[in-house]
Amino acid sequence: MSSRGLLLFNFVTVITVIVTVSESRELIRPFNNTISAVYVFGDSTVDSGNNNYINTVFKANFPPYGTNFANHTPTGRFCDGRLVMDFMTSYVGVKENVPPYLDPTLSLDELMTGVCFASSGTGLDPLTAQLFDGVITVPKQLENFKEYKTNLEASIGKNRTKTLIKKAAFLISIGTNDIAVNYMSTPLRRLTYNITVYLQVLLQQLKQLIEGLREEGAQIIGLVGLPPIGCVPAVITLYSGQPIFGRPCVDTFSNIALDYNNKLQDMLKTMQKPNSILVYADIYQPLNDIVHNPSKYGFEKTNVGCCGTGLIEATFLCNSGSVLCSDPSKYVFFDAIHPTETTYRYLFESIRPTMDRFLKKLSQLM
Ligand SMILES: *[C@@H]1O[C@H](CO)[C@@H](O)[C@H](O)[C@H]1NC(C)=O
Ligand SMILES: *[C@@H]1O[C@H](CO)[C@@H](O)[C@H](O)[C@H]1NC(C)=O
Ligand SMILES: *[C@@H]1O[C@H](CO)[C@@H](O)[C@H](O)[C@H]1NC(C)=O
Repeated sequence: MSSRGLLLFNFVTVITVIVTVSESRELIRPFNNTISAVYVFGDSTVDSGNNNYINTVFKANFPPYGTNFANHTPTGRFCDGRLVMDFMTSYVGVKENVPPYLDPTLSLDELMTGVCFASSGTGLDPLTAQLFDGVITVPKQLENFKEYKTNLEASIGKNRTKTLIKKAAFLISIGTNDIAVNYMSTPLRRLTYNITVYLQVLLQQLKQLIEGLREEGAQIIGLVGLPPIGCVPAVITLYSGQPIFGRPCVDTFSNIALDYNNKLQDMLKTMQKPNSILVYADIYQPLNDIVHNPSKYGFEKTNVGCCGTGLIEATFLCNSGSVLCSDPSKYVFFDAIHPTETTYRYLFESIRPTMDRFLKKLSQLM
């Protein structure tokens, strides 16, 4: 690059940094919403780095993870950048990103505007967390929330804590590992349950989490459905029968996700209450559309991840020694399991109308 070119490049970088910084200072509140905080529960689709602080090999706090995050920081998110829950949180105007609860350095302000309790590798079935080297189970995530609440009460008082939690948005995203890893890849549960019964077992666990959160004062809870699991690159490699050429999505896996999503929506209908909102957010259709019509979104690769061969690598197999694709934004998946930030941004855009409808309704309720 010529020195003039370099100067221009630096100038553009400076402008970009200024714009980014000023954006993060002026968060807008769409529909004048008064959401106080965001609390997140689930698996790697929403874990911002809790696994960094526990004894497990399932981490993502090293390059190339985080290569498109602020300062290229590998936060522990299984992604090159931000997750849907980060986009949602900054959209409602609470803050830019949701930090992991287990980070011991969080300020009171960070704690008061919401934290993430999710843990990569976990599932609704407690056995799933065991298969993943002791990551944080759902009951433990709820327990951590109770601990958080007790500590907050000690800092700002019971009354303020109660109001804060009442006005907070809770988000739950979980279930893929139960189906793809636990049920389909090991015989442990298949010997006991057929898939219909297993989905009921999973939804029963989810119901307990929702009820547990409501007992702690949660009134606004968002549930993210399952993605087309059969289109995950690692699933294609292991189960499509065409690991090298063709690499089609595996419909048996995706159909289980569809079935689960329908049953989840039915269950939520039976759990609605006057002073409490349960919102379902579908990511199946948008991700399915992205995978089947990639050029519409500017993607070039849908069935391999950006990291390494893209066929199987995730967590410690995707590391600083892995060859990285030249442009992650052209890939639907960053590692062989998890979407890129670009994909997550499209998924966020696709659930934004649902969020808007909900925020409008909220402004009438509160
Ligand atoms: C938000 O509140 C401001 C000031 O009270 C008002 O002018 C504006 O119309 C409100 N916007 C919406 C979308 O309700
Ligand atoms: C807590 O809030 C309730 C109702 O909002 C109020 O009656 C009570 O005085 C408050 N208590 C304290 C200690 O502020
Ligand atoms: C699954 O198991 C349940 C209970 O054992 C049984 O009622 C149901 O018919 C089975 N479903 C399928 C699809 O095999």
